[in-house]
Amino acid sequence: MATIQYDRERESRAILLSFVKSIQERDIVTYEHSRRVATYAQRLARYLGWSRCEAYDLALAALVHDLGKTWIANDILNKSEALSKDERRTIERHPAIGAGILLGCDVHPFYVETVLHHHEAWDGSGYPSGLHGEEIPLSARILAVADVYDALTSQRPYRVALSDDAACEYLLQRASINYDPTVVAAFLHLLEIFPNFRLPQLVCALPKINLPG
Ligand SMILES: [Fe+2]
Repeated sequence: MATIQYDRERESRAILLSFVKSIQERDIVTYEHSRRVATYAQRLARYLGWSRCEAYDLALAALVHDLGKTWIANDILNKSEALSKDERRTIERHPAIGAGILLGCDVHPFYVETVLHHHEAWDGSGYPSGLHGEEIPLSARILAVADVYDALTSQRPYRVALSDDAACEYLLQRASINYDPTVVAAFLHLLEIFPNFRLPQLVCALPKINLPG
């Protein structure tokens, strides 16, 4: 990753932090998920040899990776039954929506491309562009591993949280299919050597309350 120029970097960071705040106000579950993903991605990037500054920029991108979801209705995002084709297509628009918002704010392209490609798959079966292997920006490949690990180990409306072992098994099975095998190996290694690597889930979704009338 090229080093981001100082002025633009500062401006981009300020814009991104304002989006992080808006995600926090609108959807605390996505915010907490994004915070954990940012921490995992930052640690992974450092382990893979990125500078402190580069890893911080990746963490910022991770904090807004699901920004596009704030433009998608909660009843689709939180649906516990199987999604229809149309609903799946709607959800799959979130990387492009998020990247479009960032593009409109003229943030550095590093953040835009990381957000845009965080659901690409190593074998080319991902979205939105169907990029293959190293065509996918490394930032997005790191983010994808951090994202799926946290998603699997978190409780979701449609399933319970997986154990650490089950999540690691999933990552191993999906390495070279969905995820960059080098990034998966690095992540599994970090999990193995640091017993407290897994981050706690601090926030639970608020229960839905049906008010009378
Ligand atoms: Fe996402």
